[in-house]
Amino acid sequence: MAEKEEEAGVNHVVLLPGPMQGNVNSMMKLAQLLALHHFHVTFLTTDFIHRRLHRFADIQALSQTYPNLELKSISDGLPDDHPRSDNALADLYSFMNSHAKPLIRDILVSQTAAKPKVTCLIGDGFLGGLTADEADEVGIPVIHFRAISASCFWALFCAPNLFESNELPIKGEEDMDRMITTLPGMENILRCRDLPGFYRGTESNLVEPLKSTVFDCHQTLRARGVILNTFEDLDGPLLSQMRLMFPRVFAVGPLHAHLNSGRVFDAKPTPSMSSFWEVDRSCLTWLDSQPLKSVLYVSFGSITTITRERLMEFWYGLVNSKKRFLWVIRPDMVAGEDNNDRVPAEVEEGTKERGFIVGWAPQEEVLEHKAIGGFLTHSGWNSTLESLVAGVPMICWPYFADQQINSRREEFLKSAKAMAMLAHKSVSPGGSSYSSFHDLIQYIKSTGR
Ligand code: UDX
Repeated sequence: MAEKEEEAGVNHVVLLPGPMQGNVNSMMKLAQLLALHHFHVTFLTTDFIHRRLHRFADIQALSQTYPNLELKSISDGLPDDHPRSDNALADLYSFMNSHAKPLIRDILVSQTAAKPKVTCLIGDGFLGGLTADEADEVGIPVIHFRAISASCFWALFCAPNLFESNELPIKGEEDMDRMITTLPGMENILRCRDLPGFYRGTESNLVEPLKSTVFDCHQTLRARGVILNTFEDLDGPLLSQMRLMFPRVFAVGPLHAHLNSGRVFDAKPTPSMSSFWEVDRSCLTWLDSQPLKSVLYVSFGSITTITRERLMEFWYGLVNSKKRFLWVIRPDMVAGEDNNDRVPAEVEEGTKERGFIVGWAPQEEVLEHKAIGGFLTHSGWNSTLESLVAGVPMICWPYFADQQINSRREEFLKSAKAMAMLAHKSVSPGGSSYSSFHDLIQYIKSTGR
């Protein structure tokens, strides 16, 4: 303890997540874990995200539980009324890369009597070269964090090799079931259709986004290491391959399991400390009155949008299945709809018999609820890990980005229960993620000396 107190105030880590809910959620868990280890932590988001956190997340609980974790923000350069939806990610990304640099630099070099100088930057790999550039300029070591799955990151990283071995490009729809044989650590596991969304489409409309994504992945080679939200029993073979390429690979996941286990730290579960929407906890009361493992939880994450026609298709399927269901329909989920009219009246009415709809759920708690028997998911990486840790079997409806590859990986896993046990083991003392997290802590401390 004395040693920890002595260290407090010496090590100051800045975390810079990509401005999306999934990235903020997972990096916030990391920030909380570091704060519990007496690091001074600055969690740096965009002004837009900062405002949403202050509106919807439990900031009071956050600052009481983690007094050494500070939220700060910078502009993302976009006008306030910009939609910042999935279609706008490219705009956001390029504005961040041009506009944010000097602002980040100012934060990195600022120092006051109360706040020690920054000794390490943990930057979201989504921001590509941005964090590496800034850290290089001011001489602060940078570690990249990857919010996407390790398998997606690796499949993108290896794209040049796949082109070289003529496994790419994909030659149209008829080529989709062909096996990818030369992806190190994942040989003969993926079909073309399972590759990250960037690989899809014809060569002409695919090359530019793929090129820049692969370029960003290669920027991680400039970092001192890479932090992945996964664990050895899940991604061992490809982690071994990555270790041949990167100087340090910290496989510390599932991060929320570290926080919630209470075995590693004396911390209570920490729901909703990074929520972008108002969490509707009434669904937990509804779940309390449902039979054991009887409810299908349906959620497509924070970015996915669907048409009203597709929403209705899902609804007919859910109602006709005669199963109980809890469905998250975000205020902005139905493309082109007025926010206030998001759930069509017939859906609201026809759901009452066996279903429950909310705008945003306390997902981790929902998945841990005894009434939940399955999860219809878009296969976002956080959702996948949260379901896996809770031992809830998944039905996958991958939408874009890493979700195709995440859903394919499920097919190769042991039973939901067995995977949950392995995940919990990994974050317990002596487990692989537990050890990797402690390696990360030691490494960050060494950067402050
Ligand atoms: C996207 C990608 O899909 C994901 O793979 C990538 O890693 C990050 O960017 P998103 O689509 O939002 O993220 O999915 P996901 O990674 O599953 O993150 C959603 C998060 O929102 C989860 O942590 C989930 O617990 C939370 N959530 C979702 C809620 O808290 N309440 C809800 O009602 C729905």
